[in-house]
Order: sequence, then C-alpha cells, then structure tokens
Amino acid sequence: MELTEAMRTTHANRYYKSDPVPAEVFYRAVEAARFGPQGGNRQPVRFLIVTDPEKKAQLQEWYLEPWTKYLESALAGQKAIEAESGDAKATNVGMTDPAKALEAANHFAQRFGEHPAVIVVLADIEETHPTDTDLGRLSIVGGASVYPLTQNLCLALREQGVATTLTTLLCAYEPQVKQLLDIPENLSCAAFVVAGYPEKPFPRKLTRRPVEEIAFLDSFDNPVTAPVEV
Ligand SMILES: Cc1cc2nc3c(=O)[nH]c(=O)nc-3n(C[C@H](O)[C@H](O)[C@H](O)COP(=O)(O)O)c2cc1C
Repeated sequence: MELTEAMRTTHANRYYKSDPVPAEVFYRAVEAARFGPQGGNRQPVRFLIVTDPEKKAQLQEWYLEPWTKYLESALAGQKAIEAESGDAKATNVGMTDPAKALEAANHFAQRFGEHPAVIVVLADIEETHPTDTDLGRLSIVGGASVYPLTQNLCLALREQGVATTLTTLLCAYEPQVKQLLDIPENLSCAAFVVAGYPEKPFPRKLTRRPVEEIAFLDSFDNPVTAPVEV
C-alpha cells in the first residue's frame, strides 16, 4: 500500500467485524512500528494486546463510565449550538458532522469489549526524555517518545487491512487496568488502540483542515500554499 494513501485513510474506525486478527498480523505491525523515533532512542514503549473476552468486558465497563459523561455533555452542547444557530454544523468548519460522529462513537463505545483486540500502549515514563517540564504548563514532549510508534502501529495494521481506533478515556483507569492486566510497575498507560477488521469500507480521505490553515512559511501571515501544477 502506498504510504500517502495509508496516512489519508487510517481513521478512527467505529464498526468492527467479530473476526479475530491473527497474531502474525500484530507481529508484522509491531515489527514495523518499532522504528518510530524516541528521545535518546531509549525505547520506552510496550504493547499489550488484549483479546481475552473477560478482560475486554471489564475494560468496556470502565470505558463506559467516562464515555457516558462525555456523551451527555456533548449532546447538551450540540443542543445549545442548534438552539443558537439552527445548525449543529455551523461552528464545525473543516470537521466531521458532529451528530453523526457522536452516534458512531457511541456505537463503538457500547461494544468496546466486543471489538477483536484492545492494544494497550504503555511507556516507561522515566525513559521518555521530556524537555518541557519547567514551563508551568502540561508537558507535551514526553508523549513524543510514545505516539509516533502508536501511529506507526495503526498505519502498519492499516496496510494489512486492519482498522484501528486510538482511545485514551481508559488512561484515567490506569491503577485498575494495571491490576487487571498484571502490568509491570514502571509502565504507564498512553493509549488503548482498538483493532479489528472493519465492517464498512475504509474512508477514501479523512476530513481535516486545509494545509493553508495549519502550515506557515517563516511567519503566521504566510500560509503554505498548494504547488502550481505545470
Ligand atoms: C489523543 C486522542 C485521544 C482519543 N481518545 C478517544 C477516545 O477515548 N474515544 C474515542 O472514541 N475516540 C478517541 N479518539 C479518536 C478521535 O475521536 C478521532 O481520532 C478523531 O475524531 C478523528 O477521527 P477520524 O480520523 O476518523 O477522522 C482519540 C484520538 C486521539 C488522537
């Protein structure tokens, strides 16, 4: 599969077939994903692939707690926007239809433990080399040693026809998750990537802001523009 196509179509998949993903597919994906960059090449990331139905059922129970709260506030927010503008899409330029996205994410959440696999992405924080811990704000650099591998994993699964959804709601349940899955003390939860064969075709291209809105040359009043075709 061509790299750009994989990048443009690796979406947050909301509908999965129940077919299991063979272990060799995960092996090939991790084999490629591990080449992602990490501070000092300290390699702090570990992947725990959960397929056990009882363990996934427990993860679903925990997932639904924050999801239900999120859903309630998102629905209330949508109603407020509709009341103000008569259209929920009005404030959502360059993004997916919020009502449809919420419905699909709820479908996904209600079946969280039924999806074929939940890959727990773990990291040894001591080995992540954050350089922004003294700025009086939340550190973002620590994650830079973890999420490149996570996206690589999603892309490497995509190449093999496996869809994924990166989630983080369960990170708040780290103590319980670590106990349930017998995770070593030094590892922390960075993401829970659901994986499985998609029930619907992959999208042809994801909905994102245009390049001109997110990339600039030398100053923020000089957006990067499309090359002139010759
Ligand atoms: C840091 C991060 C956390 C996320 N957490 C969740 C989550 O807990 N639950 C969920 O359903 N989706 C989660 N997502 C998926 C996003 O909703 C999804 O990437 C976004 O809506 C874009 O979807 P698309 O790639 O299909 O267009 C998360 C994504 C990221 C990058």
